[in-house]
Amino acid sequence: MDLGSMPPISVKNCTLDSYLDESQNPEIVSFLDTAAALLDQDRTILVDVKFHDLQAGDTPALPGWHVDGSTLIKRGMKKRKEQYVLYVVGDVAMTEFCLDQIEVDPGPKGIQQIAEHRANPARCFKLRSGFYATYDSLQMHRATPAEESGKRLLIRLMASDTILGLPYDRAIFNPTIR
Ligand SMILES: [Fe+2]
Repeated sequence: MDLGSMPPISVKNCTLDSYLDESQNPEIVSFLDTAAALLDQDRTILVDVKFHDLQAGDTPALPGWHVDGSTLIKRGMKKRKEQYVLYVVGDVAMTEFCLDQIEVDPGPKGIQQIAEHRANPARCFKLRSGFYATYDSLQMHRATPAEESGKRLLIRLMASDTILGLPYDRAIFNPTIR
């Protein structure tokens, strides 16, 4: 994708249908049309599009290992893991994934085990510009700081049982830099 020629309109938690109907960005619409087929079609599909103009050292999201997904669950609600497709273009500040599956003890000991693992994950994978990754709400990942100044576009598709989407005009926002 050619970032220089795109209107840099960012959205957060936009419903897929609304983005496809309202966005004036044919390259992103075409990407979403294809990538959405990777997700369960019986759930709400939401789109994040984030344009960043980064200086060296800027991080395009809160730094630190974390998982995505909803944590507010009503009692008795059956909830599947959220599914994601993440696509990043720009060659600066590529998202990093931790590929390890770890099993920990319950309680404080488990918290300590996770902290130790985060400090030294055995296997990491850094997304390459122009490629996408699929993951779910158990997969640890983190934003990385930009190595040099440059533009960055992130597109994230999410299929969720519980997270509600916004229409395009209400989903537009200005992404921050950390
Ligand atoms: Fe994340």
